[in-house]
Amino acid sequence: MKAFVATVALLSGFAVLPAMAAPQGGGDSGKAGAPAKSAAPAKAGAPAKAAAAAPEAPAIDWSGIAGKEVVLFYPGQSSWEWALTQSDHGGAPKFREGKNCGECHIGEEKAMGGTLVSGKKNEPTPIAGKPGSIAATIKFAHDAQRLYVHLDIAEGSQPDAKQDPKFATKVTMMLDDGKVAEAGRAGCWGTCHEDLVTMPSGEGAERTKYLARSRAKMSRQGGGDALKPAEDLAKFRANGEFLEYWQAKLDAGSAQAANGTVLEKRAEATPAAVTAQASPTNGGWSVTLSRKLTQGDGYKDIVAGKTYTVGFAIHAGHTARRFHYVSFARSLVLDQGTADFVAAAK
Ligand code: HEC
Repeated sequence: MKAFVATVALLSGFAVLPAMAAPQGGGDSGKAGAPAKSAAPAKAGAPAKAAAAAPEAPAIDWSGIAGKEVVLFYPGQSSWEWALTQSDHGGAPKFREGKNCGECHIGEEKAMGGTLVSGKKNEPTPIAGKPGSIAATIKFAHDAQRLYVHLDIAEGSQPDAKQDPKFATKVTMMLDDGKVAEAGRAGCWGTCHEDLVTMPSGEGAERTKYLARSRAKMSRQGGGDALKPAEDLAKFRANGEFLEYWQAKLDAGSAQAANGTVLEKRAEATPAAVTAQASPTNGGWSVTLSRKLTQGDGYKDIVAGKTYTVGFAIHAGHTARRFHYVSFARSLVLDQGTADFVAAAK
């Protein structure tokens, strides 16, 4: 049992990696990832039609803003714990030494997704005919009030997985402000554990995404249901040690916005603070998500001069849970600076 040996050797490593013992105070996640390989030209698509349930955000003219291509790939059951275990994943030792996922893997997503979606690796229940990756052209902008992210996605030909009958597609962004070191290093993998629902050690539990720091103890099988004391969790939350997610749930002709946080679980906020606008394009969607730069308690303040980490996920073909496409982490700043994305002032 190779996994068991790894568990004993690396047990403490699952909770807090040596290189990430302290949260990054200044929010400087400059190492979050190499710049995206290609900068795709702005698409002269039709303006997104407003279809948001939440309060309306003003429309941004995206035509003058350069987009960058991000490839989202199908990850199968490749969890945080899997990625940290040397006998399972060749990148584990270097990751533990401080090399981020994106430094090795950005540019390889298409091939990785092809391997994983086929069932050759980390996927016991492959969906027949599912593409291994989706390319997105992503742009950011802000005005005096709000941050906006715009995604043009090409879904390809998606079989209907019949997991989410209501929404054909869900487009999600995860956001951190440097308070969650593993998000800066591994993006969404900071929340993806071996014992989530539909993951190898999920065993029928309805466990949603969580951060390792919320658990009393972590192992190769994840953290289970034993949480740290409530006052510790409250301290983490007060200190901003949680991730935010912004989501657009899409079906023919409409976009429903959702948002929430991840700390000890994925918790959806009601009412949603995020707005979503979307319109179908030839073979995909054009989606804009936004929220106020300062939304108040329970939200991260979005300010110039600070580096943020973003990660993207797309559920296509009526999928749910882990049957999505994900990106490696990217960095984001407002106005100017060194990052994968610079949100221009409009
Ligand atoms: C030092 C480079 C390196 C780093 C850092 C690294 N990996 Fe890997 N990764 C590899 C190599 C090499 C393979 C292929 C062989 C293997 O699995 O051991 C791989 C394979 C994978 C695979 C399986 C897909 C495939 O094509 O085999 C996934 C998924 C993956 N890595 C995710 C991650 C994640 C998530 C992180 C960060 C937590 C990460 N990797 C960090 C080098 C790296």
